Amino acid sequence: MKPFPIREVQAARVLVVGDIMLDRYWFGEVERISPEAPVPVVRVARREDRLGGAANVARNIAALGAHVGLVGVIGADEAGQQVRLLAHEALIEEHLLEDQAKMPTTLKMRVLGRQQQLLRVDFEQEPSAESLAALVSRVSKMMAQYDMLVLSDYAKGALAEVEKIIAVARQAGVTILVDPKGHEYQRYLGATILTPNRIEMQQAVGLWHTEADLELRAQRLRESLNLEALLITRSEQGMTLFTEAGRQHVEAQAHEVFDVSGAGDTVLATLAVARVAGLSWYESMLWANRAGGIVVGKLGTSIVSAEELS
Ligand SMILES: Nc1ncnc2c1ncn2[C@@H]1O[C@H](COP(=O)(O)OP(=O)(O)OP(=O)(O)O)[C@@H](O)[C@H]1O
Ligand SMILES: [Mg+2]
Repeated sequence: MKPFPIREVQAARVLVVGDIMLDRYWFGEVERISPEAPVPVVRVARREDRLGGAANVARNIAALGAHVGLVGVIGADEAGQQVRLLAHEALIEEHLLEDQAKMPTTLKMRVLGRQQQLLRVDFEQEPSAESLAALVSRVSKMMAQYDMLVLSDYAKGALAEVEKIIAVARQAGVTILVDPKGHEYQRYLGATILTPNRIEMQQAVGLWHTEADLELRAQRLRESLNLEALLITRSEQGMTLFTEAGRQHVEAQAHEVFDVSGAGDTVLATLAVARVAGLSWYESMLWANRAGGIVVGKLGTSIVSAEELS
């Protein structure tokens, strides 16, 4: 494998648009059962907040050395301010919109006691129509300054009008990468590449029975959406790329697996920067796969740097 194109990556400008989330962790000790209800009482000893969803994709792109812009919707609340703060710390140029209706920032809060998750509390709500319109207009104003668009869809509503965003990017002539969700993939018509995981692929094309059957379904999907490429990430089975030239596969690389959450975001980010640096989809997949193998071996931080990749 040729060296990772660090210089080209540093010159690249990538815009990430999608569902912004904050992952919040409260770590504590459990010493007693509550007198109010049969539940443990956790005395919080440490707190941690991390960027999630599209913001985590952006953080990964920044960690690889590229310039990254981020557009999405947050609430007018403390979690939203925390997202902005973490974005600045991660060298992300954020252009986040504050929802003026009562949408809270998408927040996933975990309570952990003795290394074990005891409870997860989610706050989420779809953005208002006004926020969605503002998002499309912001992306269209910014698109000309970027070389590539990455859409990170976690089905929280920021990409409800994804067709309009794709149209804007096509007009600007940029490559469009989409990490999809749901089963209505027609909405991604005109993107350059989609990166579903196994389950997302199944939801889009149904369960396949053999590898040949998968290839047939994948190529049919790719053609119907007018995509240059379709990349299926398959966890411990690695990744498979479908293009006009056919099928290419790479085996997963992880030695030890500690934490698979967020691997999809690292993979998408690495694929994006490798491609925008001028590599082929196949070479970009190899780098993305290497990054995926590294990040699942890490605990705590779900990013991979250009140095680690090289
Ligand atoms: N158990 C594993 N063993 C080895 N590599 C893995 C494993 N899980 C994930 N990976 C690596 O990470 C890549 C992406 O993982 P996966 O296909 O699970 O994406 P995903 O489901 O979108 O992830 P996420 O949980 O972040 O949404 C894989 O293609 C592979 O390179
Ligand atoms: Mg994923």
